[in-house]
Amino acid sequence: MENSYSNRIPEPCAVALFGVTGHLSRHKILPAFYDLFHRGLLPAGFALVGFARREWSREEFTEWAKGEIRENCRTDFKEGVFSLLAPHFYFCRGSFDEEERFEDLKREMEKASREQGAGGRKMFYLSIPPASFPKVIERLKGCGLADLNDPLQKVVIEKPFGWDLESAKDLDSLLSSAFSPSQIFRVDHYLGKEMVQNLLPLRFENPIFSALWSSKYVDHVEISMFETAGVEGRAGYYEKAGAARDVLQNHLMQLLALTAMERPEGGESAREKKIEVLKSCSIKDLKRTSARGQYASGFAEGRFVRGYRQEPGVDPLSLTDTFAALKVEVASPRWEGAPFYLRTGKRLDKRSAEVALVFRRPEAASPFAPAGQDSLVFKIQPDEGVWAEFESKAPGREILRDARMGFSYRSEFAEGSPEAYENLVLDAMLGDGSLFPSEEETELAWKITDELEEFWSLEPSTLEFYEAGSCGPLGAARLMERDGRKWRKM
Ligand code: BG6
Repeated sequence: MENSYSNRIPEPCAVALFGVTGHLSRHKILPAFYDLFHRGLLPAGFALVGFARREWSREEFTEWAKGEIRENCRTDFKEGVFSLLAPHFYFCRGSFDEEERFEDLKREMEKASREQGAGGRKMFYLSIPPASFPKVIERLKGCGLADLNDPLQKVVIEKPFGWDLESAKDLDSLLSSAFSPSQIFRVDHYLGKEMVQNLLPLRFENPIFSALWSSKYVDHVEISMFETAGVEGRAGYYEKAGAARDVLQNHLMQLLALTAMERPEGGESAREKKIEVLKSCSIKDLKRTSARGQYASGFAEGRFVRGYRQEPGVDPLSLTDTFAALKVEVASPRWEGAPFYLRTGKRLDKRSAEVALVFRRPEAASPFAPAGQDSLVFKIQPDEGVWAEFESKAPGREILRDARMGFSYRSEFAEGSPEAYENLVLDAMLGDGSLFPSEEETELAWKITDELEEFWSLEPSTLEFYEAGSCGPLGAARLMERDGRKWRKM
């Protein structure tokens, strides 16, 4: 199915990028602008104003950005393409502490807008530490750049959206003092991934999937996100966050909501349907239904790696979780009796993310010995695709063997999938908020995460160590065993 926005070009717009020299901007956001431009999806009246402390001229900024883009873009880097994009780049030197610099930014935005013909449309992209949000928003309001009543303005913010429900609410009220809900785009980059965007079309457009999508056939759902990387120099942030706040609260809860939601009918939005799911989620008896772990040293990514507590910037006695697993129940007729199991961790044996529907075993008596369980696996990364796993009679023998039927993006489609950030930047510019979690979704997901975090803080002994390069702590396996189940092998 063709993405309905793939041929739409956004209205002209001047984008101010805060945190332009940061890791995310260098690796994802700047390259996404180049890739969109390369694909002909940016409007002629586009301008990008980088805001950073460096003593750069506009030319120096553009040259630096070129190096980062060359290194990280998805489409081919072409000098000719970049030379056409470069005149759209502007730079404003400043720090968030300097109020007068926001006046400079305002002037630079006006100049960029005038020169490029952006027609007053502005987008503020905040790829900055959460502690800086209040200051930046206040300054944007102070200099008259941010305006609640101006429908031509947008703000894009990167997670974390707070540390818990309370701080998320504070952030939401701060944002809503400057912007109206339709102007706010909260990034959850998993929602920009092609396979995640395909979950609803695959399910709703294909009876072979939708007919099976309920606890009548599905025994349980597993949502897994495995990483081989460790904390990667982000200890300052991660020590306070941990796996549950970093990933489960957002990416995994969003995947759960997308998987469990009902079809939007008669003008309803996917957001509304996701909210219904998040409201009906519950967790209980957390001693038995959750697990958390922290990676110790071991072999990962083909080499010996240190444990989390030995990572630079990490407290040697840290109790931060780098692995989290949780059973969630969704109280809806569709999912009655079919729980959702979520798990995520760093320094695991492979990098892989998937949603798997695991089916009930047939009730009728079978002449065959009991075999494995059928599954339908939506592989988000790597090797995006869908796999059906089932049992087949082995040739010439009366026994069952595991068999697999698959669809892979790589073999089915000639064109490569856009990076999540291409999809998200484009949608934000188009003003389409469907891929961005709303305030209510974020807060509902925090409610669940807070309950889990509170339990863990009262029970520090629940933290287990797991060897780097393994598939996580034993507690995760025990969690499933208690329910007579076991995790799929990733
Ligand atoms: C981010 C988390 O949201 O997602 C990181 O903050 C994590 O800790 C990253 O590494 C994983 O993203 P991806 O796209 O590489 O799976």
